[in-house]
Amino acid sequence: MSFDDAFAARTPKTKALFERAKRTIPGGAGSTARLPRNGWKPYPLFIADGSGSRVTDVDGNTYIDYLLGLGPMILGHRHPVVTNAVVQAVTDLGTCYGLPYELEIEAAEKVVAAVPGVEQVRFTNSGSEAVGTAVRLARATTGRRIIVRFEGHYHGWQDTVYWSNHVDLALAGPADHPRPVAMGPGVPAELEDTLVVLSWNDPESFVKLMDSRGDEIAAVLTEAAVFNTGCILPEPGYLELLRSETRKHGAMLIFDEVITGFRFARGGAQEWFGVTPDLTTFAKGLGGGFPVAAIGGSVDAMRLIAEGVYSHSGTYNANIVQCAAVSATMDVLAEPGLYERQRALGNRLAAGLTEMAAERGLDAYCEGLGTVFQLWFADGPIHNWRDAVAHANEPLFTRWYEEMVVRGVLFHPLQFENLFVSLVHDDRDIDETLEAASDALSVVARTRSAVLRA
Ligand SMILES: Cc1ncc(COP(=O)(O)O)c(C=O)c1O
Repeated sequence: MSFDDAFAARTPKTKALFERAKRTIPGGAGSTARLPRNGWKPYPLFIADGSGSRVTDVDGNTYIDYLLGLGPMILGHRHPVVTNAVVQAVTDLGTCYGLPYELEIEAAEKVVAAVPGVEQVRFTNSGSEAVGTAVRLARATTGRRIIVRFEGHYHGWQDTVYWSNHVDLALAGPADHPRPVAMGPGVPAELEDTLVVLSWNDPESFVKLMDSRGDEIAAVLTEAAVFNTGCILPEPGYLELLRSETRKHGAMLIFDEVITGFRFARGGAQEWFGVTPDLTTFAKGLGGGFPVAAIGGSVDAMRLIAEGVYSHSGTYNANIVQCAAVSATMDVLAEPGLYERQRALGNRLAAGLTEMAAERGLDAYCEGLGTVFQLWFADGPIHNWRDAVAHANEPLFTRWYEEMVVRGVLFHPLQFENLFVSLVHDDRDIDETLEAASDALSVVARTRSAVLRA
């Protein structure tokens, strides 16, 4: 039976809901990322409920969930401490004042206590908003125009940064001097002149740029570990180089920690790698699944916001739902030993998958940091977007996804995404996942030639 047939047999109610949704919701889902063209074939699952590490679809199929809402469900679904805190706050306080309140300070104090590079923080609504704020703030602070960003990184959908994420290499120019490419229609072409795009993990091209144009550069914007092209970790010394060169040339360093924030260490990638940026953006994870994002930085980096010269505004900024969620999430994340335990759990899963793939003769390996990783089906090492294009085998990954989802294990169907292990997944989840993976990888290995011929 084909995957589409097997999937359809398991999901008749989902299929009917997708048809219904398409009539009133463009494409049938609330985000382009949830559509069939973004991997959810033949149609996205419709979920009925989530609890802890598992979700159940409307057809009654339960999945061990490594999608985790694309990252925010860092504490699993409906974590009681966060859910109760939000319900209590809404009941006792309301939802939105358009004025400051004490719980907002509490939430800010806890984020500041958790993250090494953050002395002050402003809450907002989405990662895209936080990045947009950081980029404009860097331009305002330095009086410069150019933002440096890297191929294969994603920083949200705003015009200023929606460039050269999963870029077509036929359009992108040479690796040592890429050309910025807008990632979709409607982005003003004029913005190309405000960007420099580089290959990540390539110290030479970065130093060359800083030597020649360092005094034009407002900020270098980077994921500190890339999770928008599978998983790619920084080469030793690379983040340190970004830090020292930006400092030397008076540019700001922005870590986009929308994915990495609070995920594998409480202080995020900056704690883990020991490199402190000027500005940091957060979103997924910050509110334990509630919609909140933030921009943080040193007092100096946040100066123009503090003075009111730079208008960081937003009706829903720091609303009560957000601050209750952040405050409670920060409390849960402070549990001693939590990250060590969950990283070990995720590493056990990753090691198990890598070993099983090798036993079956598959070119596949896991890269990651325990609570977030990817199983790369790849015939060579991947250090940046261009390596990923050269070495990653998407058809084999798709086969792997298909074999896992029908066995009740959910993760993103595309290889350039990743698997999230929440802070409430447990040994049973990992054991069951490895059991499913053993069968699934055997099928992938057995059908490899047919997949690659297709
Ligand atoms: C690193 C990074 N930055 C920014 C964003 C945009 O965040 P949002 O989807 O909340 O706008 C994302 C979303 O996936 C992301 O992964």
